[in-house]
Amino acid sequence: MLNIILFGPPGSGKGTQANNLVDHYGLLHISTGDLFRYEMGNNTPLGLEAKSYISKGELVPDKVTIGMLKNKVDANPDVKGYIFDGFPRTIAQAESLDSFLAEKDCEVTALVALDVDDDEIVKRLLNRGLTSGRADDNDEEIIRNRIGVYNNETAQVYDYYDKVDKSTKIAGMGSIEDIFDRLKGAIDDAK
Ligand code: C5P
Ligand code: MG
Repeated sequence: MLNIILFGPPGSGKGTQANNLVDHYGLLHISTGDLFRYEMGNNTPLGLEAKSYISKGELVPDKVTIGMLKNKVDANPDVKGYIFDGFPRTIAQAESLDSFLAEKDCEVTALVALDVDDDEIVKRLLNRGLTSGRADDNDEEIIRNRIGVYNNETAQVYDYYDKVDKSTKIAGMGSIEDIFDRLKGAIDDAK
């Protein structure tokens, strides 16, 4: 199996590039943010709980997020691999993912981080907010909070996989095509 963690701050292009990777490698794209938005759109209990965090740019508790991720993986066992987008966002989520995959005799192949600077991220997210309908993309204060959470709670996940030589960083600035070429290079090296 080819299991890729597509990593990087909000607005770094994970969703866009995940769609390209799905076509190229035939993987299943799992975006925990999209899963939460689906639940919120349907006003499910999970959606309502998630909304109280997402609307402030905070992280949904690990237990909730991990449970949702496992359900999605278990519902789709017959795939060549997964692209994890927006997960894991904490060390606890990374540890859970590792043991969950180990139970299935597989593992994370590589973590690829899209490197984009903060000013560019704020610009991209505010711009995305014009059409995404996402309340958390429309407010600069929430965006800054999301970047802060990324730096304080999520960035360590890069080091966690770096310790086992699975992390790679690529430049996330420039054209979508150029970034995709770099991404393919990093994944093909890790395979
Ligand atoms: O991944 P994305 O940026 O779409 O996530 C949107 C929001 O969903 C995050 O800002 C956060 O509030 C929540 N989220 C989370 N834990 C994750 C993924 C997303 O709390 N693993
Ligand atoms: Mg996304």
